[in-house]
Amino acid sequence: MKGQEWYQAEDVAKAYDDKRFSRGGRLINEREKRAVLDALAPVEDRKILEIACGTGRFTALLAERGADIVGLDISSAMLQQGRERAQSAGVADRLEYMRGDAARLPFPDDHFDAVFAMRFFHLADEPERFMAEMRRVSSDQVFFDTFNRYSTRSLYTWALPMGSRLYSGSEVRELLDGADLELVKAEHDWIGPYGFYRKLPNTLASGFRKLDTGVGSTALGRYLASVSYWDGRVR
Ligand SMILES: C[S@@+](CC[C@H](N)C(=O)[O-])C[C@H]1O[C@@H](n2cnc3c(N)ncnc32)[C@H](O)[C@@H]1O
Repeated sequence: MKGQEWYQAEDVAKAYDDKRFSRGGRLINEREKRAVLDALAPVEDRKILEIACGTGRFTALLAERGADIVGLDISSAMLQQGRERAQSAGVADRLEYMRGDAARLPFPDDHFDAVFAMRFFHLADEPERFMAEMRRVSSDQVFFDTFNRYSTRSLYTWALPMGSRLYSGSEVRELLDGADLELVKAEHDWIGPYGFYRKLPNTLASGFRKLDTGVGSTALGRYLASVSYWDGRVR
């Protein structure tokens, strides 16, 4: 799993947020945060685990809203960025960061109310194993996103140094089924892939985004979406 090694490097961890969430990437960050908050709400006092939490974009957000949140990641460098973020947001005492492997979660069965992972499954060689672990430690909800096979992302995904696996809808449904999870909601978005938005200055990105969401709300648009957000429940 190349992504496991890629994010260990300190320079990669330090540049992570800036590289992805400045310029047009700001819109991506906002959309992903909305997806997470909508899916997990109400979060107050809810016991939540974030897998592959990276630099802690979501852990800090959820801690601010009163969730009982643990963030787990295999990279100390990414977790260090998360700790710094939590300090400056004033929530360091309201969340816990742990170094660990998503393939072997150090928690008992059904330990959390909800478990989620963003931008993780594209790095997975064996997604079944990760999904089974997420399901095992969740008593209720499992939420995650995927990058989609039949989308504009397929134009450049092969060139990414950390590897990037793309999924079809039926593969994700099989993954959920295999982990005994029921799909309760799926949202499909972003005809223009993330890599495209990141290159655009703010104002241009906002214009494209309007066009994107317009086309995206049609049946063809949903089919061509490069990202999907999946919400599953324990059967
Ligand atoms: C693209 S980043 C996403 C970070 C964060 N979820 C976000 O959306 O900003 C992928 C993260 O997955 C982590 N990761 C990769 N393999 C992992 C594994 N086996 N167990 C836990 N974390 C892992 C990396 O260290 C990295 O922080």
